[in-house]
Amino acid sequence: MEKKVLYINACARSESRTDRIARALLERLGGLQEEVKLAEMDLQPLSEERLNRRTWLIEEADYTDAMFDLARQFQQADEIVIAAPYWDLSFPAILKLYLENIYVTGLVSEYTETGRPHGLCLAGKLWYVTTAGGPYLPDFSYQYLHTLAAEYFGIPETELICAEMLDVEGFDADNLVAQQIGQIQKRKLL
Ligand SMILES: Cc1cc2nc3c(=O)[nH]c(=O)nc-3n(C[C@H](O)[C@H](O)[C@H](O)COP(=O)(O)O)c2cc1C
Repeated sequence: MEKKVLYINACARSESRTDRIARALLERLGGLQEEVKLAEMDLQPLSEERLNRRTWLIEEADYTDAMFDLARQFQQADEIVIAAPYWDLSFPAILKLYLENIYVTGLVSEYTETGRPHGLCLAGKLWYVTTAGGPYLPDFSYQYLHTLAAEYFGIPETELICAEMLDVEGFDADNLVAQQIGQIQKRKLL
């Protein structure tokens, strides 16, 4: 069976360089691909009403509700690619909204009797693709996703792909992006 590759696209700009690099990676990964383009979705924050409804559904162990569609899709993917530009030391808020929506206890994660999280996701690997205007500090973006994936979602491997210094005078952004794409194209990933 072909592997299911989920592309979570948190890029805002139509000329996004992060998206361009991610698409080069997706081409190498192959498989059956599904894209979630966050900018085109009507993701809602967890208001009190939504939280209550969600808690009630989780208590009933009823995960068939449409409010869990994205979480089910995330849980079932074999490989996950997140593309998110480096914004304010982190990533666009829309990606946090997505994470809040998919982090459904009982679907992507559960807690053991000792209170430790145990991941329920099927994916073997999560890729995090980003580009930064200046120097990239992974602490509040890749590092966060890495911890979530490893400790809470049960995704054993994560990898960062990053092109940085793209908006700094004297740095050739097109060339830096092309270099990153060239490196991806040389890798044996299929
Ligand atoms: C709202 C916003 C916040 C940004 N914050 C940072 C930042 O904290 N550090 C940095 O190096 N670049 C920052 N940048 C620059 C982007 O990281 C850079 O232009 C990136 O390549 C944009 O990705 P894209 O081409 O995929 O849109 C920011 C850009 C925007 C629009």
